Amino acid sequence: MSFLARMALALRDPRRAAISIGRRLSSPLDRIYAGVLARLLRRPAGSVAVWNALRANTEWTPQPNLTVAAEILRRVRSIPDPEGANRYLPHRWRMIFREMRELTAKDIDWSTGPVFLNFGAGDRHPMGLPFLAVLAGASKGIALEPGSLRDEIVTATLQETLWDVVRNPAAYGLTAADLGRLRTVLDADALWRGDPLPLVLSKGCLELSRSAGESAGFTPESIDIVYSRSVLEHVIEIEAAMAELVRALRPGGVMFHDIGLDAHDTRDPIGFYYAERGRAADAYSGLNQLRLGDFVALFEKLDCTVEIAAIETIPLSRIDRRRLILRFADRSDDDLRTIGAKLLIRKKRGSR
Ligand SMILES: C[S@@+](CC[C@H](N)C(=O)[O-])C[C@H]1O[C@@H](n2cnc3c(N)ncnc32)[C@H](O)[C@@H]1O
Repeated sequence: MSFLARMALALRDPRRAAISIGRRLSSPLDRIYAGVLARLLRRPAGSVAVWNALRANTEWTPQPNLTVAAEILRRVRSIPDPEGANRYLPHRWRMIFREMRELTAKDIDWSTGPVFLNFGAGDRHPMGLPFLAVLAGASKGIALEPGSLRDEIVTATLQETLWDVVRNPAAYGLTAADLGRLRTVLDADALWRGDPLPLVLSKGCLELSRSAGESAGFTPESIDIVYSRSVLEHVIEIEAAMAELVRALRPGGVMFHDIGLDAHDTRDPIGFYYAERGRAADAYSGLNQLRLGDFVALFEKLDCTVEIAAIETIPLSRIDRRRLILRFADRSDDDLRTIGAKLLIRKKRGSR
């Protein structure tokens, strides 16, 4: 149908005209036509008509839709996310993988095939860091996550990381040579097809442990590098979990724990300092509310050295000592001010 004939049809019967929209929209005239049509069709009616037409049209190929979807994804992926708050998209994993490797560079030689553990890996993308670790040279990458996991989310997020790392390994501090390990660390074809997770992970380099940290039962001294982010502040059986981690750590290995010590409440980062009981206190019940000093003391009691690699504080003027509940009343100024810390934990030589 010529351009003028299509325009005439569009003016006369925009719904019927919409039926041809999925076929080809490549020339400039096509685009003018589509623009006019979009204006003529009232929005909801228009989209329903187009959708029905696409479904009914056997000549239609989904290519334009795929292009649109790819473009939307491209834009979503490029949204700046400096804090890495989005756990599904690559920014977070690029950022924290690079940071972890930089901060542990003195301790870990990736060419020797270290064993990596992501402790409390989360339900959004638990296998991301273990996958990147094995690409970097780890002989095994373990994700430990006691919360409920959905296999399709694990698969979809792994697909997302695979797609991103292959496009841009340097963003992760990886090289093209690292990507050469891909086929040995997971079954990439099974991953793309969305096969069941055990098939994807069948190479034996990646492991998903669904137990809680305190009852993980790791082989003693079997792990070289432990990573956790936003986890230790949530662990209720914290002493037992820390003891299990230290037991599992190989001498010369290192743990990097990134701990959020605030109240996880954007309205008030220290709300739990003043909430004794009732609904206000319940809001913080998922946090063990330990302070930095507690974590340092607990690790030191387990014969470890603690290096504070980074610390986040609030001004002392924001803390009202008169209102502190008993649990926090005798804490030092530094403990009260600290709302986040990154710790590097090493076992002292000769300790078990
Ligand atoms: C805020 S999420 C962080 C998840 C992930 N690390 C991330 O950055 O997306 C806290 C995680 O701690 C885990 N967690 C809580 N108690 C735990 C325990 N006893 N052992 C291991 N993980 C635990 C939870 O299951 C949850 O996935």
